[in-house]
Amino acid sequence: MPELPYSPAADRNKQPILDALTRVLAEHGTALEIASGTGQHAAWFAASMPRWTWQPTDADPRTLPALASRVEEAALPNLRQPLLLDVMSPRWPSQDAAFAEGEGEKFDAIYCANMLHIAPWATCAALMQGTARHLRSSGLLITYGPYVEDGVPTAPGNTAFDQDLRARNPAWGIRRLEDVAAEARQAGLALRERRAMPANNLLLVFGF
Ligand SMILES: C[S@@+](CC[C@H](N)C(=O)[O-])C[C@H]1O[C@@H](n2cnc3c(N)ncnc32)[C@H](O)[C@@H]1O
Repeated sequence: MPELPYSPAADRNKQPILDALTRVLAEHGTALEIASGTGQHAAWFAASMPRWTWQPTDADPRTLPALASRVEEAALPNLRQPLLLDVMSPRWPSQDAAFAEGEGEKFDAIYCANMLHIAPWATCAALMQGTARHLRSSGLLITYGPYVEDGVPTAPGNTAFDQDLRARNPAWGIRRLEDVAAEARQAGLALRERRAMPANNLLLVFGF
């Protein structure tokens, strides 16, 4: 099997995120992961939470072969084959005609790490609106990543990261938590919990 893409950050944060997920999530269910990237989180969480079925996805078709190899390597009954899913698409997953808008599978959790700052701002509304379509009424949306917050000094590392992101792509940048929560409210979701995580990241929990 070819060497799989590897993110050192995903390797560092997978256990702290898992610890938070196990506190926040029910004992079992089915999770839709948005923006799976290398699939390290998907493989770790599926292995560590055997009563959760994990559906990895990503918008970039180039990531799917490696994601599929990661799934194959993990060889877990609760880790599904990856699917193409662009949050901007009115259809989740993007490749499946059966998942028309407002239809399709409902999930107990939707998990999205490190996408909002590295994608245009419109993806935030799309994430919230898609979540409203595909999350069960008792389910949770969990986002993870860096945020800026009103009244909270931004860590110097996050300020530098934000400048770097905007230099790479003016449509990118660390999002303001209050703006993300406002987009969630537009979709009928409320910010239930804000957990401080290592390296100046936050884990946010939204529900209906
Ligand atoms: C920095 S990586 C994060 C990967 C992984 N979640 C992690 O935390 O290591 C950002 C990912 O967001 C995905 N992405 C960007 N725009 C997206 C969109 N519109 N819908 C879904 N995923 C998107 C990219 O393809 C990429 O895999």
